[in-house]
Amino acid sequence: MRALVTGGAGFIGSHLVDALLARGDEVVVVDDLSTGQREHVDPAATLLEHDIREPFETDAELVFHLAAQADVGTSMEQPAYDAEVNVVGTVNVLEAARAAGAHLVFSSTGGAIYGEVDGPARERSALLPVSAYGLAKRSAEVYVDGWNRVFGTRHVTLRFANVYGPRQSASLEGGVVAIFLERLAAGEPTTIFGDGSITRDFVHVDDVVRALLAASAQGGGVFNVGTGVETTIAGLHRLCEQAVGVDAPPSFGPPRPGDAQRSVLDTELASRELGFTASVRLAEGIVATCAAVEKE
Ligand SMILES: NC(=O)c1ccc[n+]([C@@H]2O[C@H](COP(=O)([O-])OP(=O)(O)OC[C@H]3O[C@@H](n4cnc5c(N)ncnc54)[C@H](O)[C@@H]3O)[C@@H](O)[C@H]2O)c1
Repeated sequence: MRALVTGGAGFIGSHLVDALLARGDEVVVVDDLSTGQREHVDPAATLLEHDIREPFETDAELVFHLAAQADVGTSMEQPAYDAEVNVVGTVNVLEAARAAGAHLVFSSTGGAIYGEVDGPARERSALLPVSAYGLAKRSAEVYVDGWNRVFGTRHVTLRFANVYGPRQSASLEGGVVAIFLERLAAGEPTTIFGDGSITRDFVHVDDVVRALLAASAQGGGVFNVGTGVETTIAGLHRLCEQAVGVDAPPSFGPPRPGDAQRSVLDTELASRELGFTASVRLAEGIVATCAAVEKE
């Protein structure tokens, strides 16, 4: 297949590029390198430095749209910029795919789109984002769904839980595993915002890549991609301490405004329709990520 990966120099995108090359696809990456890194793109792929806020063309048969302004804090400080990348950029990618007659898989967010939940969020749960990033992703989903209706395509949307793994940037706030591991390994203090009781659904990037590949063979639909397992931030910190081999309890700071208390995804639909179930257990995934961080 000729595959295009927008955001292929980023954390998740670069792992997807590796998997596509491994199965023999021809891969083109479109990325403006705003948070992504050239070194993360395998030289066997072609990297086109381009900002998706501007239209572009492709001859791909398959488009994975991962390019995004993915930082919640930045989205609140610069909501118009966030919307330009995440909404207008998505329209440009949809149009490039339409001109090429390509199938598209869109990367949305489970963590930021459902808002506060009182149990595992299902795809049909209310969408009540509490950040500009979540609102933009919700809007982009409306475009993907709308393009399917208007143009008869069967593009797929995946809503990722909190993804972690090697190559995640510790400089972006979502990379809590990368932040804890890097600081603990460097002997630096760590801080948890709030009392550590908020929960998240942490899914390993290898599992997310498997879900993306499964979705590329699927005709239409919106699917949660997570583990269905809720972990407290305090519990996550303990797992990171164990992986690094230190006893270094965190300090606790004031809670961050806009942080939902609970976030966990129901994974039944992806299991039934995509045949996808996350397989990396958090403790093992953190040990593997820690080993990769130490090698860097
Ligand atoms: N990491 C997570 O936990 C998570 C959770 C839910 C959803 N997602 C979604 O998954 C996708 C990938 O996220 P990630 O964690 O790898 O983030 P990332 O920041 O590492 O990757 C995003 C990539 O998009 C590129 N990019 C940003 N703006 C661009 C623009 N205007 N034009 C072209 N390229 C641009 C960046 O340079 C980067 O390489 C995003 O769509 C994100 O919203 C991520």
